[in-house]
Amino acid sequence: MKNALGDPQSVLVLGGTSDIALATVRAMAQRRLQSVVLAGRNTDALAVAADELRGLGLAVEVEPFDALDTDSHAALVERVFDRHGDIDVALVAFGVLGDQDEALRSVAEARRIVATNYLGAVTTCLPLARRMTTQGHGTIVVLSSVAGERARKANFVYGSSKAGIDAFAQGLGDSLVGTGVGVLVVRPGFVRTKMTAGREEVPLSTTPEAVADAIVASLAKGAEVVHVPAPLRYVFTVLRHLPRPLFRKIPM
Ligand SMILES: NC(=O)c1ccc[n+]([C@@H]2O[C@H](COP(=O)([O-])OP(=O)(O)OC[C@H]3O[C@@H](n4cnc5c(N)ncnc54)[C@H](OP(=O)(O)O)[C@@H]3O)[C@@H](O)[C@H]2O)c1
Repeated sequence: MKNALGDPQSVLVLGGTSDIALATVRAMAQRRLQSVVLAGRNTDALAVAADELRGLGLAVEVEPFDALDTDSHAALVERVFDRHGDIDVALVAFGVLGDQDEALRSVAEARRIVATNYLGAVTTCLPLARRMTTQGHGTIVVLSSVAGERARKANFVYGSSKAGIDAFAQGLGDSLVGTGVGVLVVRPGFVRTKMTAGREEVPLSTTPEAVADAIVASLAKGAEVVHVPAPLRYVFTVLRHLPRPLFRKIPM
């Protein structure tokens, strides 16, 4: 349950080793967060993250979770809520950028990107929404991307998976109005994390900490969509409306 000041006290992270998610948990720890469940597939990295968060005074549990094992997701959500009680915030933070050149050669790589980023998010968010509706409160934070606002030719497999989850998350949020449960759609641009390591930065690149601060501020005011950094909202409003012959000439 949120405390009297409205700060979340319990968080479930799906993609428990995500740099953005861990920065968000650290930021929430400064605002009286008490417990976190880290769900992920990399046991060693999860143990390191769990130890670090315990050092901040949080009660930390770890759960096995593979975004590609979609048949297991409903049971995982049931188990987490049954064992840990109320979950105030669920961070849906798993995702893969993938290799588009490889995806164009191999359907398997394209399927991995889409199944992780889109299908895996659908099969986790629906049971999350059900359990949060039963408890009568909670926010599902979905890590979308500006890449989903308009698919770029250089990255359209990833971009389409983010467009899918973004549309799904907005619709889910609309369907939950009046239940006490909300959905926050987060649309970062280029963030310096493991996912983008070694890639050339673009204008308005940002940090996991900046995304974390935006998530914490958006949760506090009950926002439904946030761009990070904020000016990307206006940049992509323009890009979305460019005529296609012009858009496809932009080198990005
Ligand atoms: N970094 C950016 O520029 C950027 C921009 C916009 C949106 N985003 C989105 O933000 C989210 C977090 O990304 P990040 O930047 O924090 O990158 P990250 O540190 O690489 O985190 C990605 C997370 O996804 C997990 N994951 C991938 N496939 C999985 C699977 N099959 N099962 C379970 N977990 C899986 C990874 O776990 P492992 O440790 O097991 O690999 C890792 O915890 C992603 O959805 C990403 O698309 C990132």
